[in-house]
Amino acid sequence: MHKPEYTAKARLLKRRETLQAGLGACTGLLLGRTFAQENSLVAAGDVLVYASGDKADQPILVNQVGPNKALNAYPMDPSSQVVKKGLKTLIVLVRLDPKTLDANTAKYAANGFVAYSAICTHQGCPISQLGEVGSRKGKLVCTCHGAVYDPTAGAKVLGGLAKRPLALLPLKLQGQNLVAAGGFIGKVGVD
Ligand code: FES
Repeated sequence: MHKPEYTAKARLLKRRETLQAGLGACTGLLLGRTFAQENSLVAAGDVLVYASGDKADQPILVNQVGPNKALNAYPMDPSSQVVKKGLKTLIVLVRLDPKTLDANTAKYAANGFVAYSAICTHQGCPISQLGEVGSRKGKLVCTCHGAVYDPTAGAKVLGGLAKRPLALLPLKLQGQNLVAAGGFIGKVGVD
């Protein structure tokens, strides 16, 4: 008498298990892809290109950027010319007076250019600008909740809710191009 009901329940359970297994496999694939992307963020030799605007995807030339300016960039693989676009590869590039950089930051700078991951370590908002007034003037500022980082000193946190500096990207010059001298130093993104 009860067998059909049991069988129906068993079928339902089996279907649920099959669906869960399928979802698990999909999640695994997604996680796998994300992990692979994080492992290939920026490589030595990648050329910095404009992240947006009418020059998007074109190499940033040093003579195109004035002093005390910040802009967003992406790394481009020089052989395949593929621009590595994504939140975790977004860079904030700053041109400063080389004399203002501390010794450690100067080691990774090129002609006064310093580069950091643009992802705020508080909650992951993209950073694209320098503050213009008061104690924020010339500092990297996150407009979401006001984190302030010092671009002259390894992007150490000067204020706001962030607890950790931005990851630093070593730079070198190749002709007029700015090129990554290695991968990010430090963790990219939020904890
Ligand atoms: Fe940047 Fe909160 S995400 S301060």
